[in-house]
Amino acid sequence: MSKENSKMEEIVALCKRRGFIFQSSEIYGGINGFFDYGPLGVELRKNIKDAWWEDMVRRRDDVVGLDSSIIMNPEIWRSSGHVDGFSDPMVDCRESKMRYRADQLFCGPVAVGEETIGWVAVLESEVMQEEANARALEMKRTQSKQGDLLPVSLRPFDEISSEERLLVPSPATGEVGSLTEPREFNMMFETNVGALRDASSVCYLRPETAQGIFANFKNVLDSGRVKVPFGIAQIGKAFRNEITPRNFIFRSREFEQMEIEYFIPPDKEAWPKYHREWIATRKSWFSSIGLTDSHLGEEVHPKEKLAHYARACTDITFKFPFGEQELEGIAARGDFDLSRHQECSGKSLEYFDEERKERYIPHVIEPSLGVDRTLLAVLCAAYDVDEIEGDKRTVLRFHPRVAPVKVGVFPLLKNKPQLVERARKLHERLRRRWNVVYDQGGAIGRRYRRIDEAGAPFGVTVDFDTVEGDGSITLRDRDTTMQKRLSEEELIAFLEEKINP
Ligand code: GAP
Repeated sequence: MSKENSKMEEIVALCKRRGFIFQSSEIYGGINGFFDYGPLGVELRKNIKDAWWEDMVRRRDDVVGLDSSIIMNPEIWRSSGHVDGFSDPMVDCRESKMRYRADQLFCGPVAVGEETIGWVAVLESEVMQEEANARALEMKRTQSKQGDLLPVSLRPFDEISSEERLLVPSPATGEVGSLTEPREFNMMFETNVGALRDASSVCYLRPETAQGIFANFKNVLDSGRVKVPFGIAQIGKAFRNEITPRNFIFRSREFEQMEIEYFIPPDKEAWPKYHREWIATRKSWFSSIGLTDSHLGEEVHPKEKLAHYARACTDITFKFPFGEQELEGIAARGDFDLSRHQECSGKSLEYFDEERKERYIPHVIEPSLGVDRTLLAVLCAAYDVDEIEGDKRTVLRFHPRVAPVKVGVFPLLKNKPQLVERARKLHERLRRRWNVVYDQGGAIGRRYRRIDEAGAPFGVTVDFDTVEGDGSITLRDRDTTMQKRLSEEELIAFLEEKINP
């Protein structure tokens, strides 16, 4: 197993052991693509959402909030293009009944010298080329062929010809000819609203929160004092029937998004400037929660890979253990959505610009981020194993802003009532402000290790100097393990500065 694969497995195991993330419905064998968040997971998740809301909405004059319903009139999804266009190409294996995304199934001919001796198929991954070459070597051996084996030239299944597809073996069974032609598979979950279960009652679980914002554009405009340029922000659940949910919570079927639709004037020259500004704003926000530039990258979508609504899109990527992948998409959506909703609803969604004395449909810049994907990035960036005094230590180096537990409070000894009473009092005071834990069980070193693994940035210990001496408390830093003594008031000021910058 590669080092990076094993890191991911260690993170998944830690998430379960310490109560961050569980597989949904585990006692019944689970359900693929769905997850539950445990006691530490919900705190981490809430802190990420709060940090985003604080910086993107509360501390800005030009962004307001919204919380729209998950199920909306299905006309919204017809107008937005999701009913016809929100699909991925899917391919089935007739034998094993396994299903793959055709653009993530890579295949190529195995050539020994001039002769093609068969085809291999592998699932998209960082190591798919090595995997394909190894299978090709195996094929050459089994068929006892002589000559030079060429590296396999891989292409996605949906980009090869129908004749070539007949030669591709199923990744599940190795059988040639059992894969179907790619078909478009719509990813929206359907449900029925009301007592009747027929075509007229079909509704969809939203696959993005964005459409709730577009549908409320006029309401927000009419009820507030917003002026273009301005944004509407929303945090909420989204659902996609992903063909191949994978990489833990990276791609799941139920997830949460934090999206902003930032409405700008329609001039041709305007959008690149706003687009660039939003990329910079979002990168600096990531840094404020501990995802610095060394973890991140940028990927500009080529024109032919843009979503149906976008005129440009830049992804902010994160270096996950399974490869560098999209964390957030920042799209320039033009006026596609508002124009479509105006056309299909028959209601004017124009904006009157007082300064320009002009009526227009604003264009949109859309920074769109997944809560769960951010949480996974935060976990991967924080995970570390080091050594303290010869002992291996697993530590989550969360930024204090998002850490699920901010402080562990410890009396030095549990059998000294004056230490316990003082530590409990301090715990009571700190818990009014932050999520802190009290722990009096076991040696102090053990207690530090427990909060290190939960990612608490600080530990404070009440000892005899606290109750009989100068009243000071020991503060221990998770990352350096250095300790210093502070008065209670100094401690509060220190924590305030670190946790709530
Ligand atoms: N409104 C635009 C939109 O939804 P997207 O690129 O499809 O664009 C935006 O999704 C973000 O939502 C992604 O960058 C990712 O962080 C998150 N996301 C999308 N699909 C996801 C899934 N299946 N599981 C977890 N997060 C997902």
